[in-house]
Amino acid sequence: MEFQDVLTKRNSTRDFTDQEVSDDLIKTLLADALKAPSSSNTQSYRVAIAKGATKDKIAEALLKKYDKGIEIQRLKGVSKIVRGITSGALPNGDFKPDIHYPSEQKRRAIECGKGLYGVLGIERHDRAARDAWMRKNFEFFNAPVAMFIFVHGERAEYSALDTGMFLQNLMLSATDKGLGTCAQASVAMWGGDVRPFFDIEDKYKLICGVCLGYPSNDKINSFQPEKRTVEEICFPVA
Ligand SMILES: Cc1cc2nc3c(=O)[nH]c(=O)nc-3n(C[C@H](O)[C@H](O)[C@H](O)COP(=O)(O)O)c2cc1C
Repeated sequence: MEFQDVLTKRNSTRDFTDQEVSDDLIKTLLADALKAPSSSNTQSYRVAIAKGATKDKIAEALLKKYDKGIEIQRLKGVSKIVRGITSGALPNGDFKPDIHYPSEQKRRAIECGKGLYGVLGIERHDRAARDAWMRKNFEFFNAPVAMFIFVHGERAEYSALDTGMFLQNLMLSATDKGLGTCAQASVAMWGGDVRPFFDIEDKYKLICGVCLGYPSNDKINSFQPEKRTVEEICFPVA
C-alpha cells in the first residue's frame, strides 16, 4: 500500500473474522514496530502475545473481574463499598486507571462514545447495552491475537512515548498487510490477571493491550471519529 493509504485506512477495528494470523506475520509486524525511534535508542518496551487457549484463559480471567465490577457498581450504599473492597475486582494494573479527563478532552471522549454507540444503535441511557459492549474489550473483540505492551517502569514518561511510537508502527504495518488492530488501555486495568500467564520481569509494567486480526464487515469497523483540524492544534504565535 502507499504510505498515505495506510495512514488513511488505519482505524480501530472492533470486530474480526475467524481467520488466524500466522506467527511469521506477527513476527514481521513486530520487526516493523522495532524500526520506531526511541529516546537514546533505549527501546524500553516488551510484548507478550496470546493466541488460542492462552488468549481464551486470559479473557476468562478479565471477564470475571469485569462482571464482578459491574455487579458491584449496581449495588447501593454500604454494601457497594464493602463488596468493592472484598470482591477482589478492584483494578490491579501497574498504572492507575485515569478516566478523569480534563474538560476539553472529556468533550471529545463523550463525542467519541456517542459516535460509537450511534453506529451500534445503543441508546445513551441503555446502561446494560453499553456495559455489554464494553465487556467485549475483555474478550479482545474476538480477535485471534491479543498482545500486551509493557514499558520499563523507570523513566516511565519517555518509555511511554517510545512505546506509543512502537505501537503506531505495529498498527500501521498491520494495516499495510490487510489486518486490523485496536489499542486497548482497558485490558491493562486488570494487568495483575494478565501477568501470571507469561514470564514477565517485575520492572516491566503493562501499559496497553492491542488486539489483532482480520477485520470483519461489521458496521462497527466503519466508525471513524472526527479528528481535530491542523488550525485547532497549532498554538498561535505570541
Ligand atoms: C492508548 C490507547 C488506548 C485505547 N484503548 C481503547 C480501549 O480500551 N477500547 C477501545 O475500544 N478503544 C481503545 N482505543 C481506541 C481509541 O478509542 C481510538 O483510537 C480513537 O477513538 C480514534 O479512533 P481511530 O483509532 O479509529 O482513529 C485506544 C487507543 C489508544 C491510542
